[in-house]
Amino acid sequence: MAGHAQYQNEIYLRGLADEVPPFTTDPTRVESVAEAAMQPGPFGYVAGGAGSGDTVRANREAFARWRLVPRMLADATTRDLSTTVLGTEMPAPVLLAPVGVQSIVHPDGELATARAAAALGVPIVLSTASSYPMEDVAAVGGPRWFQLYWPKEPDVCASLLHRAKRAGYRVLVVTLDTWTLAWRPRDLDQAYLPFLRATGVANAFTDPAFLAGLEKSPAEDQAMAVLRWVSLFTGTDKRWDQLPFLREHWDGPIVLKGIQHPDDARRAADAGMDGLVVSNHGGRQVDGALASLDALPEIVAAVGDRLEVLFDSGIRTGADVVKALALGARAVLLGRPYVYGLALGGEEGVRHAVRGLLADLDLTLGLSGHRTPADLTPAALRRV
Ligand SMILES: Cc1cc2nc3c(=O)[nH]c(=O)nc-3n(C[C@H](O)[C@H](O)[C@H](O)COP(=O)(O)O)c2cc1C
Repeated sequence: MAGHAQYQNEIYLRGLADEVPPFTTDPTRVESVAEAAMQPGPFGYVAGGAGSGDTVRANREAFARWRLVPRMLADATTRDLSTTVLGTEMPAPVLLAPVGVQSIVHPDGELATARAAAALGVPIVLSTASSYPMEDVAAVGGPRWFQLYWPKEPDVCASLLHRAKRAGYRVLVVTLDTWTLAWRPRDLDQAYLPFLRATGVANAFTDPAFLAGLEKSPAEDQAMAVLRWVSLFTGTDKRWDQLPFLREHWDGPIVLKGIQHPDDARRAADAGMDGLVVSNHGGRQVDGALASLDALPEIVAAVGDRLEVLFDSGIRTGADVVKALALGARAVLLGRPYVYGLALGGEEGVRHAVRGLLADLDLTLGLSGHRTPADLTPAALRRV
């Protein structure tokens, strides 16, 4: 595959025909560009964080405290960003984070995201709260992992896992930090919660075990079906001793998402998990929580040799990815930026957002004197 930086040449060459990219290539501006194009409810849902928004800001500020120290004459002209994480090959150490209810920003939702990702070979992590059933998204093709919101009823959980496995989702990502929704003023002020309008419930509404608990079909009685969904998926905190249930029903790799404390990381490793995502859910859950990047080095030191440590929350630029990798992440998950791409341009918008990030990553890696992600160590950075 031609290098990701090729996208830069493509953009300049198209400029000769007076063509410019579909929207900004500046990932720090795309949020305000998207805001102008989106309905207030969906925009608030995507952009918003918990409480004061302190952790959303902290996630970004943490990146600024680490600076790259570029090295010269390192012969980094030919680079290879490809890698394999938990058996999944990827063109760069980047996956698309699980983001639910994507149809609120574009009618094609997760189908458009999956098409853009598949065309690039970039893995998606499909949310339990997808707007389309997991089988329909799988039919798009492309590497895919499944993200579980762990429902209260074991039968429903087992059924979702069985379907995901059958539909070719290779890795299970279990999100631990969202067993109930945080206080989110932007959504509260608009009294906006898409699930109550039966959006983001497609996996449940097509699930035999979920449907078996309903007297009438969701088409006949949507309100009852939504109520059942809410009671199954919110207020459902679990305990460490319940992890074996997942092993029983999933024979592939399991990754725990939402880890911020090294002791929890050790417990994940002790429990035989295959990976974890250092994440604070993009600042959407615990207001005042530490920046996810600030949690990363300690967790890598604690368990980096025992399981795969992935990272998300606040990744916007290629430099951000380089910093997270240098601090020991094996790969990163990209959240809001691709969702804004989806809002602005559907499949083409996701493609533009992801290609832009990969090109920026490729160029920043090379210009700072590295040829592969594996070349990155903390020595590439200085804390200021
Ligand atoms: C609109 C939105 C919906 C999300 N839905 C889910 C979800 O369904 N499951 C999940 O595990 N994480 C979800 N997340 C969290 C992301 O997976 C990821 O942790 C976060 O967006 C990363 O931060 P970033 O947006 O700053 O890149 C969601 C995030 C956003 C912005």
